[in-house]
Amino acid sequence: AGSPDLKRAQALITTTPDFPEPGVQFRDISPMLADPEALRVVFDGLAAPFAGQFDLVAGIEARGFLIAGGLAAAAGTGMLAVRKAGKLPNPDVRVEYDLEYGSAVMEASGDLRGRQVLLVDDVLATGGTMRAAYDVIAELGGELVGSAVILELDGLGGRGRVPDCRTLFRM
Ligand code: PRP
Repeated sequence: AGSPDLKRAQALITTTPDFPEPGVQFRDISPMLADPEALRVVFDGLAAPFAGQFDLVAGIEARGFLIAGGLAAAAGTGMLAVRKAGKLPNPDVRVEYDLEYGSAVMEASGDLRGRQVLLVDDVLATGGTMRAAYDVIAELGGELVGSAVILELDGLGGRGRVPDCRTLFRM
């Protein structure tokens, strides 16, 4: 987050203490996404390291969809929705992953053989979600050329699970 434009964008992320539970700081990128200049520099910054290397952008439900759609349209690639459980008829892949309490399942369909995939999401916390999405892309036959999030939350272990994930901001 070096440039003045990116610093201004980061300053638009809001923090709400004690949501969704006491002791947790809720970070919201919505005001940043609503700002045209911030949206442009953030999306440009996310895609720049991977320019020319991908022909599909995969986004993780739900806020990752916003990012994948924007990046794909800007780069002229296709996009793929990595869904939460129960949304797709006969999903081609199903990956179970751990949450802080309990577990969850993500699903997707499509033939990604021969596709160069950039995987994106809004936030990296424990990294469980992103790690599971790596498996989804691999099981569909895609080649993951990289992954990126707008915001990495410090101290939750995400970096350890997906060491190669690029992040624009850290808080
Ligand atoms: C949030 C965020 C990431 C995930 C990160 O999604 O959008 O997808 O958590 O957490 P992790 O690194 O600990 O796995 P959430 O489950 O809130 O879903 P949403 O995007 O549908 O709101």
